[in-house]
Amino acid sequence: MHVLRRIGAGTTWLVLLVAIATPLAAQEVGEAARIVLHAGAPFDGPIVLTHPGVGTPPERADGAQRAAEAALQALRAGRSALDAAVAGTVVMEDDPRYNAGTGANIRLDGRTIQMDAALMTGKGRFAAVAVIERVRNPIRVVHKVLDTPHLLLAGEGATRFAHRMGFADVIPTCAEAEEKYRRRVARVREALAQGADEFDWPAHWNFPNPLPETLRDLAEGGDTVGTVVRAADGTFAATLSTGGTSITLHGRVGDVPIFGAGLYAGAHGAVACTGHGEEIIRHAMARQVYERIATGSAAARAVREAAESFPSESSLGVIALDRHGWGVVANRQMGYGLAGPAPVEGQE
Ligand code: GLY
Repeated sequence: MHVLRRIGAGTTWLVLLVAIATPLAAQEVGEAARIVLHAGAPFDGPIVLTHPGVGTPPERADGAQRAAEAALQALRAGRSALDAAVAGTVVMEDDPRYNAGTGANIRLDGRTIQMDAALMTGKGRFAAVAVIERVRNPIRVVHKVLDTPHLLLAGEGATRFAHRMGFADVIPTCAEAEEKYRRRVARVREALAQGADEFDWPAHWNFPNPLPETLRDLAEGGDTVGTVVRAADGTFAATLSTGGTSITLHGRVGDVPIFGAGLYAGAHGAVACTGHGEEIIRHAMARQVYERIATGSAAARAVREAAESFPSESSLGVIALDRHGWGVVANRQMGYGLAGPAPVEGQE
């Protein structure tokens, strides 16, 4: 049985979801600071949990569900937890609605697309790329980094490595990402007209391309995509991929490729985060959640406690697996995908 808990200021209530074939179909989304938790009954078989990024409404979580099912299919075909976690995230990188791979955010200059991605296995293997450009599936490149002596490749070196490994030299954009950029620019103009200003972007401009007319953006839903997997043999893996945030200087790196921040996996579970990267790094969020699990907390409790300790003004979503259970938490709207546990009565 899937359980949704919504935790408001001083109040907690439970809603039993008896029909959750479409992830979060019954979720009610409140104001930003509200924390919503989803969890399931104990389940010991292979399981995959995915997120399409905090800010992505539940109605657009069908791609995350497809990703979870693709990853489970990989497990059933005898692939490892890591291979399955990569397969799940590739599906979401290829979905133009999500901020990763093909749908990655276009940065303030209207041209730059810089992406981060990472993986970790339950045996402690870690690899990442940061500010990589001109590649369709950064998570596949990360998989290749595992074969090198390094943990993290960044910038032009990461891009050149990808092309050397045979990945096509493509600018991973799409009509959806361009439309998102145009909408953003329109809102920027409005914000400027209203005199709103938080940071002097022109004074710090470091893009190789010229400053566009508009300087400011308002955050728009959709962040990192992520997959956590527990295979039938009890091994874990986690993967993440992101187009980063829009309002950044050139070369900004978020939480995704920072060890212990965006994702973590070990013998006791796997964790993947989404949200305000700088704040997630400050909290070493994925490692923090994993430590709670490793010291006996259920995944659901671990993600809830982590979200409660996070500043409400910063967005956060976390998915986590332990040896028997799973948990999804977010302080903004966020759909998710789940594959493995048998559907409860009423599920499609
Ligand atoms: N969470 C993605 C980022 O901040 O880059």
